[in-house]
Amino acid sequence: MNVEDMKKAVAREALGLVEDEMIVGLGTGSTTAYFIRYLGKLIMDGELEDVYGVPTSYQARLLAIESGVPVVSLDEVDAIDIAVDGADEVDPHMNLIKGRGAALTMEKIVEYRAGMFVVLVDESKLVERLGQKMPVPIEVVPAAWRAIAEEIGVFNATAELRMAEKKDGPVVTENGNFILDAKFHHIEDPLDLEIELNNIPGVVENGIFADIADLVLVGTGDGIKKMER
Ligand code: 5RP
Repeated sequence: MNVEDMKKAVAREALGLVEDEMIVGLGTGSTTAYFIRYLGKLIMDGELEDVYGVPTSYQARLLAIESGVPVVSLDEVDAIDIAVDGADEVDPHMNLIKGRGAALTMEKIVEYRAGMFVVLVDESKLVERLGQKMPVPIEVVPAAWRAIAEEIGVFNATAELRMAEKKDGPVVTENGNFILDAKFHHIEDPLDLEIELNNIPGVVENGIFADIADLVLVGTGDGIKKMER
């Protein structure tokens, strides 16, 4: 199985968890994109009824509409039954780094509130310790980016302002903020670091998702591996 097949396999597996009348948090990224497309097909074919999606980004929203998943916003629903999203790194305790797509704030808002948060990854995302391969994205208020980038040094980390690729200058998030990518030398306690980073004035949210995933579906060469709480 190649990586795309692994992504498709975990996306299909997650569909089995969606039932009629559920409100589904729709994550961002290439793996969740498969899930959204497959979910739309089931809805369009009449195999799932009264299912609504709460998108975590414009990407998820546009794709959901295109695929036939009716969308609602967070303030229109009483609860989210299940949220499905990808991740950039997953450690053995199911702590995550997310935010490559710069949608981390809305992702965390939706996933924190979901009755069940399901993570879809291929095996390349598994790490022994968070921060091994990926920096931690931190969404910051633009006026504070430089001060925060310097302050991150206290954690033995270096932070870079994320630059846009098809726009001059920095990436601007859907909330109008900047992203710092912080490379940590060693993340000993993800939950502790997640809380400490969010305590810095000007930080909107950071991409450590500690202690929040209920189920991780990992696509491997030998099939799907499950990590559960
Ligand atoms: C976006 C994210 C994505 O979920 C994460 O980057 C994984 O994406 P992909 O499935 O494309 O590897 O956090 O902000």
